[in-house]
Amino acid sequence: MQVRYYLMLLFTATFFYACNQSGNSAQLQLRIDSLEKEIDASYKPGLGEFMSQIQVHHAKLWFAGKSENWKLADFEIHEIMESLDDIQQYAAARLESKKVIMLQPALDSVNYAIEQKNTALFTSSFELLTATCNRCHAAVEYDFNKVKIPEIPPLSNQVFTPSEN
Ligand code: HEC
Repeated sequence: MQVRYYLMLLFTATFFYACNQSGNSAQLQLRIDSLEKEIDASYKPGLGEFMSQIQVHHAKLWFAGKSENWKLADFEIHEIMESLDDIQQYAAARLESKKVIMLQPALDSVNYAIEQKNTALFTSSFELLTATCNRCHAAVEYDFNKVKIPEIPPLSNQVFTPSEN
């Protein structure tokens, strides 16, 4: 009699434990579903927004380099590189994103010119960089979107010349 009683108790306990477990996993699934919805609805910048950021840094890079402000030029080129990494991470769904690596040789060349503080090399590398931007735009059928070497600084509230100290 005793054994049957214990067996019944064990069975009931296991039954409730299992029910509780499946209740937990159902709740967990609900939580996962709602988190997935939240992630889908959360704001992610698109490729065009990253490009607009790159456009600003591209212009600032030019004025920094022409002013021989090598520290600022180094900063600006790294901003471009960060945006390119972000494109590959956050805009991976756009097939064009894979093509951004075509900028690498031109970026390496601009980087080298900055390291060497070589204005002539900076100018020719920047021309190559700008031409490569347009080469990609053409390759992905955005050739109506042409970039060029800027004529005036993009913003008037930033100093491009190196500071005195
Ligand atoms: C993958 C190849 C690729 C490369 C490399 C590339 N772009 Fe783009 N760019 C695009 C695509 C695609 C768009 C259109 C994005 C969209 O759908 O809004 C674009 C759009 C733009 C725009 C338009 C943004 C706007 O809203 O008016 C600018 C400006 C721009 N790119 C600048 C640049 C500059 C500067 C470089 C080089 C430093 C560059 N891009 C390199 C693919 C590229």
